[in-house]
Amino acid sequence: MRFKYKLKEKSPFEIEDLSFKIVENSIYALTGNNGAGKTTLLRLLVGLLKLDSGEIKIFGKTLTRNKEGLWKIRQQIGFLFQNPDDQLFAPTIEEDVGFAARNLKLSDSEVRERVEWALNAVNLFEFKNKSPFNLSWGQKKRAALAGLLVMKPKLLILDEPFANLDFKSICNHLKIIEELRTTEKMTILFTSHNLFFVEKWADKMLVLNNGHLLFEGLPEQGLKNSEVHALLGSYDEINDLIKKTRI
Ligand SMILES: Nc1ncnc2c1ncn2[C@@H]1O[C@H](COP(=O)(O)OP(=O)(O)O)[C@@H](O)[C@H]1O
Ligand SMILES: [Mg+2]
Repeated sequence: MRFKYKLKEKSPFEIEDLSFKIVENSIYALTGNNGAGKTTLLRLLVGLLKLDSGEIKIFGKTLTRNKEGLWKIRQQIGFLFQNPDDQLFAPTIEEDVGFAARNLKLSDSEVRERVEWALNAVNLFEFKNKSPFNLSWGQKKRAALAGLLVMKPKLLILDEPFANLDFKSICNHLKIIEELRTTEKMTILFTSHNLFFVEKWADKMLVLNNGHLLFEGLPEQGLKNSEVHALLGSYDEINDLIKKTRI
């Protein structure tokens, strides 16, 4: 695939010759430094951005960005935005979550059932009549996730799912996602620049550097790879710096 942001000034960022495969029922970590192109790549995968050339195949079918194609993607892939405020829009959580379900051509009672299931799955059922905008960051992320779950997607794409969360909220989110993965057999692709999650949670690791795929493989191999290590840095590097400044 090939993609470049079209800016009036000289365009600084480009994705080129990038290709990888996702196997069902696994957890994929897309990592790389800020500005590496992780969010851009995800937006391409779900049709929010248009490729300049090349193709993307989702579940064996080439992605088409017409209305029908995009609707199909939405049903198969749940894309959780980095910032939940970009995703939530309705006056109440229940309406927000129900929006996508109502487009599924299900009966009213089936829609109600799905919405109830999704709200329970993210532990927000008792908040259903609240505005999504008055929630904490973690609750907003969960409300946005419920809005994706009503489609019962095969693939969940999570952009920085653990960023801005305290440890307890991270546990809470992990528990919810893991439950969905096992009971609903969802495949996960998440981005994070935190190597802890890559090492502990992912089955496969993809490292992006300036729009190029630097590494694709097992996390234990990626974390030992000297190029990857030098690119991403570590707590050790921060620790050394602190030590030096304290002398
Ligand atoms: N809408 C946009 N228009 C132009 N450049 C953009 C846009 N969004 C992101 N970029 C640039 O593309 C690069 C990759 O950004 P992004 O995909 O957000 O990286 P990451 O998610 O890995 O931090 C950055 O240099 C960023 O400034
Ligand atoms: Mg990003």
